[in-house]
Amino acid sequence: MSRCGAARDLEGQSSRAATVGCSTLRRVPVSEEIAAATATALDRIARASSMESLKAVEPDLFGKRSELGILRSRLGSLDPEERKDAGRALNDARSAVEDALRARQRELAGDERRVRLAGERLDLSEFAPDDHARGHYHLLTQAHRRLEEVFVGMGFTIAEGPEVETEWFNFRALNFADDHPAREMQDTLYVDLGEPGRTVLRTHTSPVQIRTMLEREPPIYVVCPGRVYRRDTADATHMPVFHQIEGLVIDRGITFGDLAGTLDEFVRAFYGSERRTRLRPSYFPFTEPSAEFDMSDPTTRTGWLELGGCGMVHPNVLRAGGIDPECWSGFAFGFGTDRMAKMFHGVDDLRELWTNDVRFLRQF
Ligand code: FA5
Repeated sequence: MSRCGAARDLEGQSSRAATVGCSTLRRVPVSEEIAAATATALDRIARASSMESLKAVEPDLFGKRSELGILRSRLGSLDPEERKDAGRALNDARSAVEDALRARQRELAGDERRVRLAGERLDLSEFAPDDHARGHYHLLTQAHRRLEEVFVGMGFTIAEGPEVETEWFNFRALNFADDHPAREMQDTLYVDLGEPGRTVLRTHTSPVQIRTMLEREPPIYVVCPGRVYRRDTADATHMPVFHQIEGLVIDRGITFGDLAGTLDEFVRAFYGSERRTRLRPSYFPFTEPSAEFDMSDPTTRTGWLELGGCGMVHPNVLRAGGIDPECWSGFAFGFGTDRMAKMFHGVDDLRELWTNDVRFLRQF
């Protein structure tokens, strides 16, 4: 059966299931369930009377089995419009609960410290602010987890691919010509394995596009965060090892408008509703048309900050992924997440993200 036919069958099944569901069940709107779960979580935080009891409620606030976690796991079963609204509401709910948790932690930690200090007549230990005493994720890990959450809230799933990649996935399947400059030894790190020139450290996360197309039937809505490698000299905005997040959407009738709308929605969810976005014409061999993607940023000289590249998936790339461009279309995007985290946290120099100086790391 062709891939178009297979997908038509799936669509038919899911719409029948939806009809049966609608005719027999009266559903509480998801927004009400989210509001109720948020109120319960905030109430539990407020009622925790010690750091210990606050720590004990934490898994019930965010874990997979928490009320919000269960609601998030149900997103996939909602129709696209409802899923978008519910995803956004869940992201807002999570931020509100996180803020309340942090505020309560500070409050209780302060109380406990005051009680302890009052009980100690002589304290010769060095004073360290309590919120610096606990370890936490590195700021890049934090950025990736938050990025994943925002995209999952928008209906995407997470895909993965290897960092040691074949030349075919990294270049050829992505429509790079044999003499494309990115293949040169001065840009790409080749691995001494098998036939010379056939194995590379992936130079971008785009090969995951091909792997995903070969593994999954469309419609496809995935993001892939990961580490990539280039022969770039380290400076304030470049590292030889850095991170990207790739996005790929393949469905029927996907247009450039869908790409612009998705990126706009993402930026508002991640950076705040006051941000605006714009697309500038560009070139990538694997997308046509291609664009650079900017976000408004009043701290830059131009008022815009570049986040990455994007475009409509090139028909040759769809074919390499075993997908018929006559039936399906799609868009892809790739952001540099180190630069996003650098800008998000006001860090001056990318190299600082790689220092293991705890005095730097514990600020985030
Ligand atoms: C790419 O890597 C494309 N694969 C992006 C893409 C995906 C386009 C899907 C179209 C569709 P580019 O080489 O421009 O594009 O890199 C994307 C981002 O990675 C850049 O905007 C920048 O934020 C980041 N980046 C590139 N080089 C470095 C580096 N040496 N250090 C840190 N970040 C970098």
